[in-house]
Amino acid sequence: MHFGNAWYPEHWPEERWEHDVKLMREAGTTVCRLAEFAWSSIEPTDGCYELEWIDRAITLLNKYGIATVLGTPTAAPPAWVTYYHPDTLAVDPTGRPASHGNRCHASANSPTYLKYSRRVVEHMARRFGNDTRVIGWQIDNEYHRVDYSDTAKRQFQHFLKDRFVTIDKLNEHWSTRYWSQTYDFWEQIPIPVGAHNPGLMLAFRQFVTFTWQEFQRHQIEAIRNNSHCGQWITTNLMGWFDGLDTYKVAKDLDFVSWDWYIGTGHHNYLNTGLIHDLNRGFKQKNFWVMETQPGTVNWSPNNNFLNKGEARVMAFHAAAHGADAFLYWQWRSAPGGQEQLHGSLLGADGNPRPFYEEASQIGSDFKRVSEALKDTTVKADVAILHSYEARWAINAQRHNSEFDPVQYMEQCYHPLARHNVSVDVISPNAPLEDYSLVVAPALNVLPDDTAAHITAWVQAGGVLLLTPRTGHKDEYDALHSTLQPGPLREVAGVEVQEYYSLYDRVPVEASWDGTSCGEGLIWAELLRPLSASTRVVAMYGASNGWLDGKPAATIHPFGEAGGKVIVVGAWLDERLQESLMLWVLAEAGLSGIESPPEVEITVRQAEDGRKVTFVINHGREARSVTLPASTAGQRDLLSDSIVPATISLPAYGVAVLANT
Ligand code: GLA
Repeated sequence: MHFGNAWYPEHWPEERWEHDVKLMREAGTTVCRLAEFAWSSIEPTDGCYELEWIDRAITLLNKYGIATVLGTPTAAPPAWVTYYHPDTLAVDPTGRPASHGNRCHASANSPTYLKYSRRVVEHMARRFGNDTRVIGWQIDNEYHRVDYSDTAKRQFQHFLKDRFVTIDKLNEHWSTRYWSQTYDFWEQIPIPVGAHNPGLMLAFRQFVTFTWQEFQRHQIEAIRNNSHCGQWITTNLMGWFDGLDTYKVAKDLDFVSWDWYIGTGHHNYLNTGLIHDLNRGFKQKNFWVMETQPGTVNWSPNNNFLNKGEARVMAFHAAAHGADAFLYWQWRSAPGGQEQLHGSLLGADGNPRPFYEEASQIGSDFKRVSEALKDTTVKADVAILHSYEARWAINAQRHNSEFDPVQYMEQCYHPLARHNVSVDVISPNAPLEDYSLVVAPALNVLPDDTAAHITAWVQAGGVLLLTPRTGHKDEYDALHSTLQPGPLREVAGVEVQEYYSLYDRVPVEASWDGTSCGEGLIWAELLRPLSASTRVVAMYGASNGWLDGKPAATIHPFGEAGGKVIVVGAWLDERLQESLMLWVLAEAGLSGIESPPEVEITVRQAEDGRKVTFVINHGREARSVTLPASTAGQRDLLSDSIVPATISLPAYGVAVLANT
């Protein structure tokens, strides 16, 4: 487990640096991020590089046993780049170029910017690529900028040409006779601004993804060509951000990291567990939390401070879900600049702020668990499928503004998390053979080959849960020519006769666990069984007339190996959703671990079967927790004591159990 922070030594006189590094060391820091955004200090004028200061900072960190991660500085090109090469500035949807000074102002579509970015990274990599004090690289920062310039438009048109080959094919897939959109040649195709043709909007997101893949590829090449000492490469992602398809961007990285900020309010472990699992799923391996708030941020409507103890449970929660590092942003705020009021570990006077004490506690706690966590990760029997295409398609046509695909995913995840069932969040095209249960929340865009992949897994004995809005569109965001769930109709043994955006709630009576009554809200689909072996397990009560007494959920056996497909047509209320998820788990032969409210029990394990169990009280009340039998006789690595069968956890209390 690494513990650390982002340090920008370029803001302070060098005489001060050693004092900073000593304080870092005292807080248990093992890793530090440098050089991100420092392009103007690295290349103050065109082609003149100053890397000595970075070397001196690395030397100091190394002296105190702290490893360095180098950030490439490309999210903040210096003024000479944007002044002498205005074509590097990104253009907004109204046609206005970005102004200098707010970082991320350059366009990843600009050949000039790409050239300078690659060159500065090459220089850094030549200098530090074989420096073993540098363990890895973070490329750029939070890729997100979209450029609407003519250059980007031309590249988009080329991208489409590569993809569709003929303009007729594009016209066909996008149904362009509709509203006379038919294109005669590629140059006529616009960049979508606001609502537009769904096919065009989806393709543009894919192009933005491609742009960032290319941008990243340049830097990866620059580093890999010059680094031969095992340094890794990552970038820092942004949770649910859907401006690009992270599965594609993640492919070329060694692992992903993400920036975890709460902003206003407090940590909700049910929601963030899902985001950690999403990040672990990008490459199906552990990840880093590259940035998190030391108490507070500066950009939220209310930058409230985390409660005392809250940051510590956040750190262990991340570790429990597969984080191998946890870094604060940032060590100390620059005296000027846009982020003066952000949380930090040191104050303006250069002394520790109150939060430093909690950070130091985390640093020393991590030391206690680090060895036990080596080579462990989360092993899940349940997968939730997540697709950017599906989210883009639904978000472009919500139909009911409350149908938020992320919230629906949370709706499926929360009951599992409450019962301490580990979940992998993965792409629908990822291998499925390790899972007993696969949940496909609102998998709206469902290409035929993905459907075939899922069908083969059900045929081999998998249990699949399909939900509202699944299988509606093809890979071009056009309607499938069959009713939902489109290419999964046969395996599901059911089709969706009609979908209803709900204004009034609809009663739902389920028979899956005796009788469970509840309500559907936001969305309900009228199901029609297609096979004699399809069993109806929930019915709609009287509501809009159309749904009255009609099937709301079904189960269908498929194949000889015990495969089953459960289809639920409605967004269910929380209680009914919980009973559905527990029943579905049981159908897959799985069960969870019981724990008191707000107490999470999560396991990381190694290939050799070694297990580490995290017991985390996310709440502000003390809880008594009966531990799973598998932990009998184990030691809590934090208190260094053998645990009894039932332990008492104070508010924000944590125990980490393992055989020692
Ligand atoms: C982002 C950036 C950081 C910093 C933080 C502040 O995530 O990556 O550089 O600006 O926000 O919360």
